Amino acid sequence: MDLSLLQERFQKEGLAIGLGTGGLPVVALRNEFGAVTVSLYGAHVLSYTTAAGEPVLWLSDKAVFERSKPIRGGVPVCWPWFGAHQQDSEKPAHGFARICEWELLDAHSGENAEGGWIELRLVDSQQTRALWPYPFELIYRVSLGRDGLRLTLRTQNKGAEAFSVTTALHSYFGLASIDAASVLGLEGVDYLDQLDDLSRKTQEGLVKFDREVDRIYVNAPSKTWIDGAISGRRIEIQSQGSRSTVVWNPWIDKAKRMSDFGDTEYKEMLCVETANAGPDAIVVSPDQAHELEVLLKLL
Ligand code: BG6
Repeated sequence: MDLSLLQERFQKEGLAIGLGTGGLPVVALRNEFGAVTVSLYGAHVLSYTTAAGEPVLWLSDKAVFERSKPIRGGVPVCWPWFGAHQQDSEKPAHGFARICEWELLDAHSGENAEGGWIELRLVDSQQTRALWPYPFELIYRVSLGRDGLRLTLRTQNKGAEAFSVTTALHSYFGLASIDAASVLGLEGVDYLDQLDDLSRKTQEGLVKFDREVDRIYVNAPSKTWIDGAISGRRIEIQSQGSRSTVVWNPWIDKAKRMSDFGDTEYKEMLCVETANAGPDAIVVSPDQAHELEVLLKLL
């Protein structure tokens, strides 16, 4: 990838293309609605701040920026499988999309009230077919407008056979403190407890945190909220094309086991992921496409 060609093509007021930490190429978009940075490595949204400068997402101080390793924080794209590969644990966790270099297709900073966007593409290659045998095209659009930050992942089947994917827009949100945080909107929804052999349970009341939580809420509603963002405000998470919501906080012991996660950072983050996971896999027929979308905003 030739950075100077990309700069020539897309760089203008409100849009900067350059090398970020670890020499990974990054696109930064700033407009009247806020600012967002996206790494072409993994199509990974690294940060999102509102027009008032309030950070919404969280990125670990220990995040590793190296090709072949996923980045801890922001919004990793988990695709074409969520979590560990079901048959082969040697394959990368959460699929390969987050550890591939994506192509920058288009970028606009937003000359009008509609805002701006960055569009990225990933297609199958020898490397992806060695892990997963299907031809595909992924188009990922990161739009920053009046409504907030909208992330749209389009999975197109380019082959002659149907395929099935599990996937997540694995958003890490920044919190003032996990002790005071709660997730609203999942009351009465069933979840698979990843810490209890995927046993099925029902959420009673708001989701609160005083230990490790790792749950796949199935048939989840399209709107959830987090109380207790860094700014003290409420975050709204509105999804489309998503049947599951994953809620994860590693708490103390798991935080200590992860080398790219600070020992006490669990206090300042929470993942609420827009997903199709567990039994909510999506089947995409030949020449068909599926769109997974989330709109994030501070209320
Ligand atoms: C969550 C999973 O989505 O991602 C957790 O539910 C997992 O089980 C977490 O630990 C982080 O995954 P990774 O591969 O980025 O360390």
